[in-house]
Amino acid sequence: MSITKRIKSVISGLIILFSAFGIQTITAQTVWLDQLDLSTATQGYGTPGSNKTVDGKPLTIAGKTYERGFGSHSESSLTILLEGKATLFTAQVGIDDEVKGQRPAAEFVVYGDNQKLWSSGVMRLGDTARTCSVKLNGVRKLELVVIDGGNGNYYDHVDWVDAKFETTGVATFKTFNPISNEQYILTPKPSASPKINSAKVFGVRPGSPFQFLVAATGDRPMIFSARGLPKGLKINKKTGVITGSLSKAGTFEVTLAAKNAKGKAEKKLRIVCGDRISLTPPMGWNSWNCFANEVSADKVKRAADAMVKSGLINHGWTYVNIDDFWENNRDSKDESLRGEFRDVDGNIVTNSRFVDMKGLADYVHDLGLKIGLYSSPGPWTCGGCAGSYGYEKQDAESYAKWGFDYLKYDWCSYGNVINGLPNNDPSKVSSLSYNGGNELNTAIKPFKVMGEYLRQQPRDIVYSVCQYGMSDVWKWGDSVNGNCWRTTNDITDTWVSVKNIALDQDKSAPYAKPGNWNDPDMLVVGHVGWGNPHPSKLKPDEQYLHISLWSLFSAPLLIGCDMEKLDDFTLNLLTNDEVIEINQDPLGKQATCLQTIGELRIYVKELEDGSRAVGFCNFGIDRADISYKDFEKLGLNGQFVVRDLWRQKDLSNLATESGELKLNVPAHGVVLYKFTPVK
Ligand code: GAL
Repeated sequence: MSITKRIKSVISGLIILFSAFGIQTITAQTVWLDQLDLSTATQGYGTPGSNKTVDGKPLTIAGKTYERGFGSHSESSLTILLEGKATLFTAQVGIDDEVKGQRPAAEFVVYGDNQKLWSSGVMRLGDTARTCSVKLNGVRKLELVVIDGGNGNYYDHVDWVDAKFETTGVATFKTFNPISNEQYILTPKPSASPKINSAKVFGVRPGSPFQFLVAATGDRPMIFSARGLPKGLKINKKTGVITGSLSKAGTFEVTLAAKNAKGKAEKKLRIVCGDRISLTPPMGWNSWNCFANEVSADKVKRAADAMVKSGLINHGWTYVNIDDFWENNRDSKDESLRGEFRDVDGNIVTNSRFVDMKGLADYVHDLGLKIGLYSSPGPWTCGGCAGSYGYEKQDAESYAKWGFDYLKYDWCSYGNVINGLPNNDPSKVSSLSYNGGNELNTAIKPFKVMGEYLRQQPRDIVYSVCQYGMSDVWKWGDSVNGNCWRTTNDITDTWVSVKNIALDQDKSAPYAKPGNWNDPDMLVVGHVGWGNPHPSKLKPDEQYLHISLWSLFSAPLLIGCDMEKLDDFTLNLLTNDEVIEINQDPLGKQATCLQTIGELRIYVKELEDGSRAVGFCNFGIDRADISYKDFEKLGLNGQFVVRDLWRQKDLSNLATESGELKLNVPAHGVVLYKFTPVK
């Protein structure tokens, strides 16, 4: 039966009036939400439920069961085309009782024609259902949205029950996903002649092993050279890898060159030998968003190989990072993960999938790449594997001995240390406890401990603090030697997740600087899926927006996908050197939103050469088609060359006083321009 027929057949609540002439007139009808096609909803994962939860169970809020409704995940969004024919939307909303872990919390919001019409406020598991009643006269498009309620778990089960519309006459409503599915490639193919794409600045500490790859596109063979290299460093002519070590602090201006049969390219590199490392945001790959607990040394090697084969290495992608599950988990049902945390001397023991960490690090280094790993300041990680609590010094020494270059240090079970709960039995308490993370003295301490031990190692280890932004980590992350810190809970490959994370970044922006980066979590393009990889659920325009924003944010760029399944569209997203250059700009500023026009948010990032990158970011579900003139609001005054960075094309020569820009920004999409002053 078609949706139209279905809706018509279930018209209920008819108010039938008899006119003075005895003619029956239908003046109102009720259309239940569960009668619409709910499959167009976007949500964390799973199938949206009609009259059932996402797990197919009865809808239950605070012990009360409801027969009708829409069961979904936070975060989620459902768009319904009402065309002005509904007068009222009513529902009861709440967190479903079926998932109890991680303190479920969510907020239900109703938008009509992009205006917020109603919000439930944050609701928690066990709260009795709240009543939503929204007048809709004239509303054409309605969005039912559920956002995270601050617990950072995007998988809470949420219910809109007894949800229905009142209309003034017979009406049919359509649900739809308003965002285009069209995949289009913007990044031009690199030319056959050499072009050097690596960052313009690199930091190293005196005495540490030096490794820097001159990333360059163009036909091979290629011959690399470097003028002005300080004593202690040498370049491999064939691979372009600079190695050695510097004994004294200082700044060195080097000219890199790459030559092939088609021509020669040069680029300046500033080597800063001193206290600070990670002078541009780290770029690389991390195993979590793709493999989660199924990571293995073999998969890591294959990801590293793919980084080279796909050509990503030629665009500056460097780190290959192992997330959770290289350590043992004492209680795992999976034999390859099960084992003791430490040997008799207290040294961390790797699980049977990672038999030779030093060999793995050597393998990755030999490709010209770097390697990272993961731990927790608590007794165990979020996945219940061995954490570093009580063994921080020994662990930092192991990482250095193996030759690791990057540590992601994840709060996880540290809350249990603060609680004084048993610290040796992950099965007794939930792994993730936020306790103590929101009080400064207890929040900072564990990261400081590891930060200091990392600094004592004879190699540079990028320190990535992961505690989801508690206690405004951006204000103190530098003081614990952190190079980057997560500002958010885990990202998912859904629009709602990317959007909410993006909208939350401005507050930490002033703290970004060379060596200190706000981390809005890893990239969700390509095949992602936390052990169950699928093509990213983000639409193509949403992916352009995601990469553009993370570039503007000076965010660490960590690819989260299966590197062996990189398709042309994803490669186009990850190999645009002009977009990457915005992220890697040596000034290290983070873009903020300087102007909002409806759902269009305009982000501006100042660059070292005096130019500005401007992202016109459309968070709305309609195309933004405007003539733009407010340049002074973006700090732009004078004559500029405007360049489209995704297309790598100059667009116009613009005088901000009299000129205007025609903008046509796709729904959930972006145009990313660079404004360079004409001297
Ligand atoms: C989470 C973290 C994720 C991932 C995971 C591993 O706490 O935010 O990025 O590292 O733990 O268990």
